[in-house]
Amino acid sequence: MILVLLGPPGSGKGTQAKRLVKERNWPQLSTGDMLRNAIAEGTPLGLEAKTFMDRGALVSDSIAIGLVDERVSRPDCENGFILDGFPRTIPQAEALDRILLKKGRKVDWAFLFEVDDRELVRRLSGRRTCPKCNAMFHVDTMQPKRDGICDHCGAKLIQRPDDSAEVISKRLSVYHDWTSPLAEYYRRQDKLIALDATRAANEVNQAISAALA
Ligand code: AP5
Repeated sequence: MILVLLGPPGSGKGTQAKRLVKERNWPQLSTGDMLRNAIAEGTPLGLEAKTFMDRGALVSDSIAIGLVDERVSRPDCENGFILDGFPRTIPQAEALDRILLKKGRKVDWAFLFEVDDRELVRRLSGRRTCPKCNAMFHVDTMQPKRDGICDHCGAKLIQRPDDSAEVISKRLSVYHDWTSPLAEYYRRQDKLIALDATRAANEVNQAISAALA
């Protein structure tokens, strides 16, 4: 099965994708993680992407599409995968459909994570991430067992540079302008499943499982 997780920054796409990876054994394809890895490795693509990400803007469609095109061809994607943070524009959604069509495949479902902007700001400003294994925590609602330390790999947690108040506001406006029209794109294809993602992470997970069943 091929799933698209669609929703504003901080709506819980990454959190739910990681749960689905464990439950279903499908890989999580997060363009945000791929770009952050490229930045950490200091590749030319990473250096270019950083200038956009640090100010909350989208990287070019061609970069994002190129990353996904290469990734979906790998053997671990044969039985299905979860797209987290891609597509983010209509041209990306159209390119994804073309890439999958060439392989005789298609997106099965697009889950839309609905959360109001105020709650998104609360979640993003309190988020702490592990730079080593990409695990996620929150200073109030998903605290690690040891303060500031990743439960999974023991690395020191960080605050993402794009989780500052100014950049969060820019990312939200980019989402409303460029990404929210994708809900209509998938609704027209009868693939959209809207979720109330303000609920606790366990409840959102149960809603996804129920929809997939
Ligand atoms: P990316 O890394 O994809 O970030 P994002 O889409 O902005 O989403 P986030 O990772 O911030 O949030 P999330 O929805 O995954 O929420 P999470 O689970 O972490 O992209 C970063 C940048 O890369 C972009 O700005 C852009 O520059 C570039 N980029 C990436 N893809 C691109 C593309 N396709 N095209 C162009 N540019 C691209 O949860 C957030 C917090 O809330 C956590 O602390 C978590 O613990 C907590 N939380 C989660 N669920 C719940 C819940 N149910 N209740 C309470 N708290 C919760």
